[in-house]
Amino acid sequence: MKEIRGVLFDLDGVITDTAEYHFEAWKKLAEELDISFDREFNERLKGVGRMESLELILNHGEKELSESEKEHFASKKNDHYKTMIANITPNDLLPGILEFMEEIKEAGIKTALASSSKNAQVVIERLEITHLLDEVVDAAKLERGKPDPEIFLKAAEQINEPETACVGVEDAQAGVDAIKAAGMFAVGVGSYLEKADWIVEETSQLELKKLQAKIQ
Ligand code: G6P
Ligand code: MG
Repeated sequence: MKEIRGVLFDLDGVITDTAEYHFEAWKKLAEELDISFDREFNERLKGVGRMESLELILNHGEKELSESEKEHFASKKNDHYKTMIANITPNDLLPGILEFMEEIKEAGIKTALASSSKNAQVVIERLEITHLLDEVVDAAKLERGKPDPEIFLKAAEQINEPETACVGVEDAQAGVDAIKAAGMFAVGVGSYLEKADWIVEETSQLELKKLQAKIQ
């Protein structure tokens, strides 16, 4: 890649710490279902859609539920989650992410949100960053979840840039896998991210100049 034309952001755990809220909400639900749940297991849920996450938890606890029970528990988890995101403000942006998004926009590079969350629109509105995103992929319209590349390919298509000129930013292994499967440069936020092309421990380390140096 010679020039970055698009930066595609995951939301939970990259722009704001809602990954922690998803964790808390699933933990509460797992307790109700009497299934053991810890941070290590939670890593497998990051970036994974609501229903698929519930399936993973049920398999982990060796529990079987009917389709209507699954719907019931998935919506219960979402109710917990919605209570938690109701009070989000711009103070909940992760350190340095606003500045990073602003410098990308100032450089004339397009941006898109590639989050699997059906709550993404509410969260970005509460964070007041809607103007920094040219496009938002609608998670409800996707056929396959991360690690499938569909969401990142869709984001590149929506900003009208070739995927080979796009960079994806993710905190989840499933997300990094999706970015790589889409043929893009992958920035990983956090540790334990295999295959990421550039890993930063914290969002405060994200800088356009550093990213441009990495893609050369
Ligand atoms: C993101 C999060 C996952 C979450 C998924 C669906 O990918 O990383 O933890 O399960 O979105 O979120 P939703 O808000 O639709 O339940
Ligand atoms: Mg994430």
